[in-house]
Amino acid sequence: MNSRERFQAACRNGKVDRPPVWLMRQAGRTLPEYRELRANHSFWDVCRTPELAAEVTMQPLRRFPIDAAIIFSDILVVPDAMGMNIEFTPAPVIDQTIETMEDVKALKRPDVEKALGYVAGALKEVRSQLGSERALIGFAGAPYTLACYMVDGMGKKGFVKTRGMMYSHPELMHALMDKVTDVLIDYLTMQVESGIDAFQVFDSWGGDLPPDQFEAFALPYVARIMERLKGKGAASIYYVNGIGNVLELASQAGSDVLGVDWRISMEDVRRRLPGRVVQGNLDPTALYGNPEDIGNRVHRILDATGGQGHILNLGHGLNPSTPIEGIDAFVRSVSTWKKSS
Ligand code: CP3
Repeated sequence: MNSRERFQAACRNGKVDRPPVWLMRQAGRTLPEYRELRANHSFWDVCRTPELAAEVTMQPLRRFPIDAAIIFSDILVVPDAMGMNIEFTPAPVIDQTIETMEDVKALKRPDVEKALGYVAGALKEVRSQLGSERALIGFAGAPYTLACYMVDGMGKKGFVKTRGMMYSHPELMHALMDKVTDVLIDYLTMQVESGIDAFQVFDSWGGDLPPDQFEAFALPYVARIMERLKGKGAASIYYVNGIGNVLELASQAGSDVLGVDWRISMEDVRRRLPGRVVQGNLDPTALYGNPEDIGNRVHRILDATGGQGHILNLGHGLNPSTPIEGIDAFVRSVSTWKKSS
């Protein structure tokens, strides 16, 4: 079984020789070769130049025996393509945020092949470098998480403007989410046609919502994306940061795989959603610990799922200062795990 077969099988709860492994934010500032490349190219240049994006995507695969590549890009390329001007400092900055219905109406519904064709170009380049040995993952931000940046801008202080708008002007929030969702469906369809095995929808701030607001504003739009992408040839992963609060609801979005953050134990996830295919969920800061401790923690997570219907990952993205040895210990511990019968 090669990495791609293993990854594809796990997404569909099939039999695997061992669970597949990859890491959120595996390409990026943790790697010295990435920092070196960024010394000569801006973040936007890397994203918009397929050869550079492909190179950065491949960097972690040369270092670690991971089963999948995730395309190097950012969730904010979508609001950018809709006409908002995004800068990375490296934290994202958006000057003109969404405040009125006129602002929502002024957002473009771009032709994704034109506005985001650079992502398709990068995906095709990575696919040709990977061949059929390893899996390729595309991604997009969830409508709610994108709305957080589009309404609040910098995204500090708990996205108070966005969350407040859901109570003060619910129709405005729904209009924004609706428009973003249409673009995301076009964008992910383009990614599927460019050769991905799976796409991950990142709801990085979805877990900040009380369950009723999550159900009313976040869930229906993600469910629409999953529904429209079903059967097109790629598996779907729905990652919610802070999912413990809304685990059963998030599961209803209809993704093939549910991405779980580190705040909840895998034992608890299995109890609440038996048989659900899951991804996660080691605390990213556990990688600052010693290799033996990392291995033990990974093995405990694998014991909880029995390695079945499980893609091993962190509970959120790698921090830039993570020691390389910690990443290495994490990746290798999937191969030293023995299923207890
Ligand atoms: O390896 C991978 O996972 C692919 C790369 C990737 C990036 N952004 C590159 C990036 C992915 C999957 C993303 C998604 C993303 N972007 C999310 C969702 C994932 C999550 O962590 O919850 C979010 C919320 C964003 C928005 C964003 N973009 C932020 C908050 C930042 C600042 C991050 C920071 O650590 O300072 C960015 C910029 C960004 N995106 C960087 C990278 C490598 C840093 C830019 C640089 O190289 O200087």
